[in-house]
Amino acid sequence: MVIPAAGRGVRLGPGAPKALRALNGTPILVHAVRAMAASRAVSLVVVVAPADGAAEVKNLLDDHALPDRTDYVVVPGGDTRQESVHLGLKAVPDDITTVLVHDAARPLVPAEVVDTVIEAVRDGAVAVVPALPLADTVKEIEPAERPGDPERVVATPVRARLRAVQTPQGFDRDTLVNAHATVALAGEGATDDAGMVEKLGAPVVVVPGHEEAFKVTRPLDLVLAEAVLARRRA
Ligand code: C5P
Repeated sequence: MVIPAAGRGVRLGPGAPKALRALNGTPILVHAVRAMAASRAVSLVVVVAPADGAAEVKNLLDDHALPDRTDYVVVPGGDTRQESVHLGLKAVPDDITTVLVHDAARPLVPAEVVDTVIEAVRDGAVAVVPALPLADTVKEIEPAERPGDPERVVATPVRARLRAVQTPQGFDRDTLVNAHATVALAGEGATDDAGMVEKLGAPVVVVPGHEEAFKVTRPLDLVLAEAVLARRRA
């Protein structure tokens, strides 16, 4: 299990790196690690910390209780999410054949989603993504030619065939390592790990995601996350 947590969280506003900001008094990253550890199938969590904050993150995790069966290691991250995941993968021991990648920014994903993803990989899928249908219609746009010019719509994909993809995404380890190596060599980028596997031409399977697996990106997401936690405690 690799958790990239090295992002700055600029869209959340000024402050500490996103993963270290508090959600109900506990850092977002600690919620995310606990959410992964809630699955009995997760034995090791590799946390990818901001490059200048690995020691701080290690201390933080040492200070917060995790189940005894879950080991964790902290490694320094890179400039992009892709690089951070690549660095995290290098810290996964050779005997682990199923690897999950989970955004620290999705602290509230329920254990049932984690279990469903792991099961699908163990059943033979080389790549698995949890996903939900979209509420909004999505437009593809042509970027504005000059700053201040309007963007123009070029296409409206059929909404029923679109899915919003979440994490944890699950992989056959060799497939993911190969995908990262190939995409990095080609100098290409991807905003999620399954996207790299797609570039290899390997099949990616979809399983049901969950509303509570949303990504904490903007200030309103923090309000929603606190409300979800309050409802869980009620
Ligand atoms: O930027 P984005 O929302 O796609 O980030 C998703 C996840 O990737 C977050 O958990 C963030 O901490 C992580 N990330 C990272 N290293 C970076 C950028 C983002 O680990 N350089």
